[in-house]
Amino acid sequence: PQAVGFVGYRGMVGSVLMQRMVDEGDFAHLDPVFFSTSQAGAAAPSFAAGAPALKDAYDLDELAKLPIIVTAQGGDYTSAVHPKLRERGWDGLWIDAASTLRVKDSSIIVLDPVNRDVIDAGLASGIKDYIGGNCTVSCMLMGLGGLFKNGLVEWATSMTYQAASGGGARHMRELLTQFGDLNAAVAPELADPASAILEIDRKILAAQRGDALDSSQFGVPLAGNLIPWIDADLGNGQSKEEWKAGVETNKILGRSGEDSIVVDGLCVRIGAMRSHSQALTIKLTEDLSIEEISRILDEDNEWSKVVPNTKEDSMRDLTPVAASGTLTVPVGRLRKLEMGPQYLSAFTVGDQLLWGAAEPLRRMLLIALG
Ligand code: HSE
Repeated sequence: PQAVGFVGYRGMVGSVLMQRMVDEGDFAHLDPVFFSTSQAGAAAPSFAAGAPALKDAYDLDELAKLPIIVTAQGGDYTSAVHPKLRERGWDGLWIDAASTLRVKDSSIIVLDPVNRDVIDAGLASGIKDYIGGNCTVSCMLMGLGGLFKNGLVEWATSMTYQAASGGGARHMRELLTQFGDLNAAVAPELADPASAILEIDRKILAAQRGDALDSSQFGVPLAGNLIPWIDADLGNGQSKEEWKAGVETNKILGRSGEDSIVVDGLCVRIGAMRSHSQALTIKLTEDLSIEEISRILDEDNEWSKVVPNTKEDSMRDLTPVAASGTLTVPVGRLRKLEMGPQYLSAFTVGDQLLWGAAEPLRRMLLIALG
């Protein structure tokens, strides 16, 4: 079997990736070499029996021995190490979860159920950098890929409801701590059914606006709140997360220039844990029936699942709680909007750590191993 280097395997995305690889028996098809930024020399993880002791993630000589490196260590690591490896002539495959290399011409964004053709063409033409897409974009395309791939989307706008996990592990902890602190601030009143709800509300608001609530990760409280801005301010009124939607969608689909599909919208952080949701308005290129649309979406890949547009089905199957921890990407609220028969409403949810991060990398590794 081929040797494969893994960097950042203990972080949140890395841990999800390792769990998926263990679940699917992937380690039987490769010889893993684990790298660490802090624990070189320590024993390899127990799930990969026989792997050598951890190597230093900044040891270019050790990294350069490997034909394939998979990293979930983050963008700073990629920036520090990838250019140096390439400068010294390393021509192995670099499979990366970070956004650093994503929109470079020298890379491919991997989401093989949607763009296996683009990946195969990249491998054939000698491209060496294969990067996981932005979580929101990947989850959107896993759910709605059938419409995009078949040229049925004239434009799309998405309003997102993004989970705390997109910020990182510390952000998830902060959200839960805030929930607990807010609850504690009004616990006596909650225990008393006769207490006044407006007094509870006043106390909660005072806690959210006060200094006692730890909001160091998100900057402002997320519990009982939302944050209508994700990632950097590009200075043109658009957030970087919003910019990614259009750029990455088209790059994944292998579209550019006049061939591009306009995708733009508004990205919002909400207090969900690990599944990103988004509401889309899609201008179709044709007036297809909802039945036809449902069939195209369901049949596109084995993970997209159309949820009937009823209250009961939507509440049960089309939520972050329903989607989290699964590879299923539910798509629902399919309805023609009052704007006209070509205007489709849709809502989709995807686990931000699975299809949004780890799974496309795992699958790219399997493709690379052949
Ligand atoms: N930028 C995303 C978010 C996560 O903050 O939700 C990574 O794709």
